[in-house]
Amino acid sequence: MRAASALPPIRAALPAAARALGAALALAACARAAAAGSDRPPWLDPGQPAEARIDDLLGRLTPEEKIRLIHGVSKFSAGGVERLGVPRLWTDDGPQGVREEVGPDTWEPAGRTDDYATAFPPGLALAATWDPDVVAACGRAIGEEARARGKHVLLGPGCNLMRTPLCGRNYDYYGEDPWLASRMAVAYVRGLQGEQVAACVKHFAANNQEVQRGTVDVELDERALRELYLPAFEAAVREGGALAVMGAYNRFRGQYCCENDFLLNRVLKGEWGFTGAVISDWGGAHDTRGAALNGLDLEMGTRQPYDEYFLGRPYLEALRRGELPAASLDDKVRRVLRLLYATGAIDGRRPGASNTPEHRAVARQAAEEAIVLLKNDGGLLPLDPAKHRTIAVIGDNAVLTFAAGGYSAGVKAFREVTALQGITDRAAPAADIRFSRGYAQTVLLRERARDAAGIGRGTLVTAAPAELAALADRAVAAAQRAEVVIFVGGLAHVPGGDDEGADRRDLALPAGQDALIARIAAANPRTIVVLIAGSPVAMPWLGRVPALLQAWYGGSEAGRALAAVLFGDVPPSGRLPCTFPARLADSPAHAAGLARQYPGENGTVHYDEGLLVGYRWFDARRIEPLFPFGFGLGYTTFALADLRLAGGPGGNAVVECAVTNTGPRAGAEVVQVYVHAVRSAVFRPERELKGFARVSLEPGGTRRVAIPLGPRAFSTYSVERRGWVCEPGDYVISVGRSSRDRPLEATIAVSDKP
Ligand code: BGC
Repeated sequence: MRAASALPPIRAALPAAARALGAALALAACARAAAAGSDRPPWLDPGQPAEARIDDLLGRLTPEEKIRLIHGVSKFSAGGVERLGVPRLWTDDGPQGVREEVGPDTWEPAGRTDDYATAFPPGLALAATWDPDVVAACGRAIGEEARARGKHVLLGPGCNLMRTPLCGRNYDYYGEDPWLASRMAVAYVRGLQGEQVAACVKHFAANNQEVQRGTVDVELDERALRELYLPAFEAAVREGGALAVMGAYNRFRGQYCCENDFLLNRVLKGEWGFTGAVISDWGGAHDTRGAALNGLDLEMGTRQPYDEYFLGRPYLEALRRGELPAASLDDKVRRVLRLLYATGAIDGRRPGASNTPEHRAVARQAAEEAIVLLKNDGGLLPLDPAKHRTIAVIGDNAVLTFAAGGYSAGVKAFREVTALQGITDRAAPAADIRFSRGYAQTVLLRERARDAAGIGRGTLVTAAPAELAALADRAVAAAQRAEVVIFVGGLAHVPGGDDEGADRRDLALPAGQDALIARIAAANPRTIVVLIAGSPVAMPWLGRVPALLQAWYGGSEAGRALAAVLFGDVPPSGRLPCTFPARLADSPAHAAGLARQYPGENGTVHYDEGLLVGYRWFDARRIEPLFPFGFGLGYTTFALADLRLAGGPGGNAVVECAVTNTGPRAGAEVVQVYVHAVRSAVFRPERELKGFARVSLEPGGTRRVAIPLGPRAFSTYSVERRGWVCEPGDYVISVGRSSRDRPLEATIAVSDKP
């Protein structure tokens, strides 16, 4: 049986006898096919068109076998059909590397030694690179590792928009802008799927908070849905060709997203022509009829015994009673079989590879490109170990590892370089590196009980006040004795931090870090703050520190990437993929302080801000953010000049300008194109990102960039016409280095005529 070359994880491998039987039956079918004049029966013949093979296989399956294919038979696999050589479909999280083996029937780690993986920077860090090429390379590497582990579907990327800075899973997604998120999603999907691994774009749709995520009903208007919350999914499906989509836990306009006729049948499968499989989030299915009719294809993670899943025996019996159409079952099976064929599960797959030097190099490049320099007064950075002989590294986040956290996005990293290790490896012994913990992030006691989604309900214990005070005093003393301080603080993947299943309560750094940073900065004016955090935080101490780096979570090579930027081996080149508000009340979901807007009232959350999410809100309300969307400094300077606009037919345009590195060091600039409608029949945000390009240049170097804009850049979604409408007229194109710094501007007349 050729499918055996894609062996699933060892524990779940088919018993040898069953494999032998499957092989014998498949061979018998081959013999019959040979007798009939062809070498192989269509379903086993790679020379046949995929749909013909699927039709053939479908015709051979019994109803019971079909049912097995469309629901989970372990925590992460759906059933196979041994007699026909159809293996189980193996899935795994995602998205920042291949998750460790659990189960098979529990969420507990399987305790294996062959499931270490490379950890890549999570979604928000990838978005901060503004570099689709490096994101695609991460997708390819993750695909190779997934294949090496026998996985057919990788549960990612996560494409939910950042509506509130408090969402516990912001770090896992691509930030607040639909265009940036779309480019990242398409790159990741293409990279991954080029490796015979299906992407499963999640969580469809409007899963923008973790609080009450399993029940909350989201009410938002059609334009905001189409223009903000769906584009990354749409691009992943239509441009990226994503083979699977995961339904979200929450409800949308009254119906659970995994059984949502509008989202799944009408939009995804109808309008977007999606031919792949909709997979439920784990435990996201609620009802046989809804799951059968409203677009779900593969049910995973339900709490019942596997046979009793909504798409298991209850579905089969309803079909037998004639209560549900047989065609609904065939459609689901067809879609699941597409995944199996597309990933080589039937024909055999190339061998994969895990933890290779190439994968580490990609993870490192992504982590480096993600780091955003937010402040560098007096050019304190980059550091020079020969000049700064005593460096105090202060902060718990300097010695913590993060890859395993965050629940479903956690990766059992083959290795993970901490910030302290990276700095020490780079700067010692030339510099004397002295570590002081400064604060204790958290101590997490995980209880064994898990909720329906498998989230361990733990109790979070912070260190006692006396212990924190003693740690802080020692750190301040260390800061006084050092020439330079690198304070490494931030959040962690714990409840109340960057974590699945809960949101943060506020923007403050935990464990007394805000007060500690102020004390350290008073003790040593050469204090550099490094934030390891996957969400925006408030910075009451910002005016007192000369330098600040946003390092996100960086995966396996995080510490090395950070050290490379701190010591100037690579230039900082990341840009913020989200606005950093000065205070929570400045951001749209929290401005009115109404529970109906966040986290919801009587089970429903209303996105009253509509189209004004992220920088769109800050622009409309003239609010000064702490740091704007798109912002990031470098060790060099760039000039943008000579803007030229060319309009083409059908709402197409090209934006061209020259980028020059005017400073003393090599660096990268991210040229950002924002579109503003001079006049519009409908309300529009003041400006919206519609294109960007990342350019690396040596000192003195100049390059012209040409950034194409398609009709969507000028279009709004018309509720009346049920489609995108490109309004002809004048548009101001502004080009710059953040949403608030756009030195070039010109107007273009857009025509919708072909
Ligand atoms: C998460 C998904 C994840 C699934 C399987 C759910 O709790 O929301 O993102 O893929 O679990 O682990």
